[in-house]
Amino acid sequence: MGKKIILTGDRPTGRLHIGHYVGSLRRRVELQDSGEFDEIYIMIADAQALTDNADNPEKVRQNIIEVALDYLSAGIDPAKSHILIQSQVAELTELTFYYMNLVTVQRLQRNPTVKQEMQMRGFTDAEGAADNKAGTPVGFFCYPISQAADITAFQATTVPVGEDQEPMIEQTREIVRKFNATYGPALTEPEILLPDNAACLRLPGTDGKAKMSKSLGNCIYLSDSAEEVRAKVRGMYTDPGHLQVSDPGKVEGNTVFTYLDAFCRPEHFDRFGDCFHGRKVSFDFHSLDEVKVQYRAGGLGDVMVKNFLTEVLNDTLEPIRIRRKALEQDLTYVYRVLQEGTQAAREKAAATLDGVKRAMRINYFDPGVLEELIREQSKKYE
Ligand code: TRP
Repeated sequence: MGKKIILTGDRPTGRLHIGHYVGSLRRRVELQDSGEFDEIYIMIADAQALTDNADNPEKVRQNIIEVALDYLSAGIDPAKSHILIQSQVAELTELTFYYMNLVTVQRLQRNPTVKQEMQMRGFTDAEGAADNKAGTPVGFFCYPISQAADITAFQATTVPVGEDQEPMIEQTREIVRKFNATYGPALTEPEILLPDNAACLRLPGTDGKAKMSKSLGNCIYLSDSAEEVRAKVRGMYTDPGHLQVSDPGKVEGNTVFTYLDAFCRPEHFDRFGDCFHGRKVSFDFHSLDEVKVQYRAGGLGDVMVKNFLTEVLNDTLEPIRIRRKALEQDLTYVYRVLQEGTQAAREKAAATLDGVKRAMRINYFDPGVLEELIREQSKKYE
């Protein structure tokens, strides 16, 4: 053994945005191209998406292709990474059912991400829970267990995700330890791999709110046009105290600077330094630190910084947009990628499920097992 295996994924509830990109997608492509991993699985988690969209399966169904297009256009290479559709790997639900016995309701209730999501979705409202109009769907409540199945089915060693997924990985590690201690070693304990840059850990929305989320309408999507990106950046939250250009400005908590922290590279100053050349004032910046120093001192207006950010973002997004446009014209290819990725995933998950059932000794009809079982149990009745 000793293989290095990546498993990660996203819920298909919308197109992917730049928060997904810096939080995880960009890293996945780097890891994929590093050649350090033996197997890579990237999951479109439609079954998990259904846990809070049971009444809207069409939304999930439509977004599978959007996420697949975003993956491929961002640089996920099907020759190196298997892209799979979660619901088509039945082994995952079977594993989930056995793992459920290793987790308590109380432990799930403490999961901070689930707690927060329940709040956001109004699931905590017990009023009307009796007629199923409110309350928490059981499937949703249990999704961290299903996520443990996603991760362990592939014997993943490494799970590159955003910070909000930390409780899921911790939960998975607990399940693995409990399973292996109870039934014998059949599962691999995964490590989380977080973004190394603080700005990428949790990219705020364009309105400065803590999280980029479709329901808040504060996202920049990977598939946004250059004009859409320009308009969204123009409307972005900066420092509300920076009223006049001459006023000193704050960089901390200023979304424009957080985005620059996540996207800006030194070469951007050679190519887009013009953004800081104005009629009245002109600056020659060579690094983001120099921009920050000037902004803090005063005299540097938001418009210049926003124009620069627009160029930086569009520079990153343009190749992704071009690839997406081409792939949108070849959905047959995209679905073939998904089908082949899912097939490879099934084989891997089936092998793990076999091992799990063997460890639990619920593999009654495996070759040789039944004969042994009959021999053993016959003794009871001699
Ligand atoms: N919970 C993840 C999200 O909301 C999606 C997901 C499902 C996932 N299964 C996974 C992530 C397994 C990593 C590993 O984005």
